[in-house]
Amino acid sequence: MQTNIQAETARRRTFAIISHPDAGKTTLTEKLLLFGGAIQTAGAVKSNKIKKSATSDFMEIEKQRGISVATSVMTFEYDNLKINILDTPGHKDFAEDTYRTLTAVDSVILVIDCVKGVEEQTERLMEVCRMRDTPVIIFINKLDREGRNPFDLLDELEEKLNIRVRPMTWPVNMGSEFKGVYSLIEKKLYFFKVNKTKVEDDVLPIELEDSLLDQKVGDRDAAQLREDVELIEGVYDTFDRQAYLDGKLAPVFFGSAVNNFGVKELLEGFCDISPEPIARPTDKREVLPEEKNFSGFVFKIHANLDPRHRDRIAFLRICSGVFERGKFYHHTRLDKNVRFASPFSFMADSKSVVEEGFPGDVVGLYDTGTFKIGDTLTEGEELQFQGIPSFSPEIFKELVNLDPMKSKQLDKGIQQLTDEGVAQLFTLELGNRKFVGTVGELQFEVIQYRLENEYGAKCRWVPLNYTKACWITAENPVKLAEFIRLKGNQIAYDKDQNPVFLAESDWMLRMNQQNNPDIQFHLTSEFK
Ligand code: G4P
Repeated sequence: MQTNIQAETARRRTFAIISHPDAGKTTLTEKLLLFGGAIQTAGAVKSNKIKKSATSDFMEIEKQRGISVATSVMTFEYDNLKINILDTPGHKDFAEDTYRTLTAVDSVILVIDCVKGVEEQTERLMEVCRMRDTPVIIFINKLDREGRNPFDLLDELEEKLNIRVRPMTWPVNMGSEFKGVYSLIEKKLYFFKVNKTKVEDDVLPIELEDSLLDQKVGDRDAAQLREDVELIEGVYDTFDRQAYLDGKLAPVFFGSAVNNFGVKELLEGFCDISPEPIARPTDKREVLPEEKNFSGFVFKIHANLDPRHRDRIAFLRICSGVFERGKFYHHTRLDKNVRFASPFSFMADSKSVVEEGFPGDVVGLYDTGTFKIGDTLTEGEELQFQGIPSFSPEIFKELVNLDPMKSKQLDKGIQQLTDEGVAQLFTLELGNRKFVGTVGELQFEVIQYRLENEYGAKCRWVPLNYTKACWITAENPVKLAEFIRLKGNQIAYDKDQNPVFLAESDWMLRMNQQNNPDIQFHLTSEFK
């Protein structure tokens, strides 16, 4: 069994594609699935974006939830590897879902729009990747558009994302004059054709000095490519895989996802260099994937679509050993044993019951309320996986019960929804009042809608003036208690009873930091 675990682990690649909305994440996902043979036609992967106009369209939210369950994990085989793509929500209001999904992957592909460069959400996503040094491959997309100069883009990536980059392919012109990409590794030229439906590229092995290059792309573009490559070789070090695996260096590929272009090189590059499942930290020790005993953690919980059944789907990332259907596992937070009669795995657009899963795999577990985000299952060992942080919300609203007869339902509903990670629940130090914090307005609508539909409870929201919630600690517990006492109305507790400081502005936060050097303020809950 042990060698089987090792062999199966070595062939798993579990990653997420991330981007600022509209850069081309959905399109790239679909093209990768086409190459992997997991889907046969373009258009099979629905965009899981909620368009801005649909903010109040609850049917749209419901549809979105349906789509995103089906595409939460997309698995395909390529080159004898089992590739698991974990989907992340496109809408920025669901960014925290994305951050959590990033805790369950071993690497990411970051998509950049060559016209827009690094955008706001790109920076935030990269910050999360940097927290655990996740290896990143960058795909610069939409080369069929008149984009920015590729060298400027690379400079911007290094500067704004605080990571070294190394081009692996290089574009020959762009926009209407886009000729293709030159693979700096393979020394091959891939010719671009608009709207290709087939998945093979026209490719020519060609040395840069060869005059054939001039014939194929024209004298001007050939000269420019030679000049660019000379500059690249002079400026950038040769690709260092270890630096990539350590999260210090991002290899960069260029292409046009919608035209199926550059995607195969990206996929093959990914298969060559991306990490297999890695060791994961717990509160006790590091867990290695090849260990005999199974362990895993829940990184996402999804409510079922049918409001009459409140069962949910918990997504479990397997970290070590073999997960087997019907076997009892230890739920370490609840200290009880649980088993799953029909765990399922995901294919591109369907799910099916699985008998076993290996490190790197994600299994879906039907859950009737036993799981919270971050829960750990083991074969008996008492440990808890770490690294599933909460992030400071940005919008805060107090929950007001509109139907006193239903306060029990409201309490249960809000507890369960916050267990799912839809939003964070806090209780104010003064008056024991409950309020909710999110990163986007949309979650408040989702919560209100779901409380009513699934729990029969009605609520309304009263906006609060805060813009940040920082977890606070101090080396000296007396200082912390003193601070909490002094700041009474700005102190609340999260669901695990950790104290947080509520700031009305960044300025207010900075003032408090300056004036209270004994107190540490943390923007994520992961600070131990
Ligand atoms: P997202 O998931 O990152 O939000 O982006 P998505 O793939 O939905 O792509 C956003 C838009 O960019 C889509 O157009 C898509 O067709 C387009 N796109 C993706 N790759 C390329 C590319 O290589 N070149 C060009 N020119 N466009 C690209 P849309 O108009 O929003 O949607 P659709 O009607 O085309 O589906």
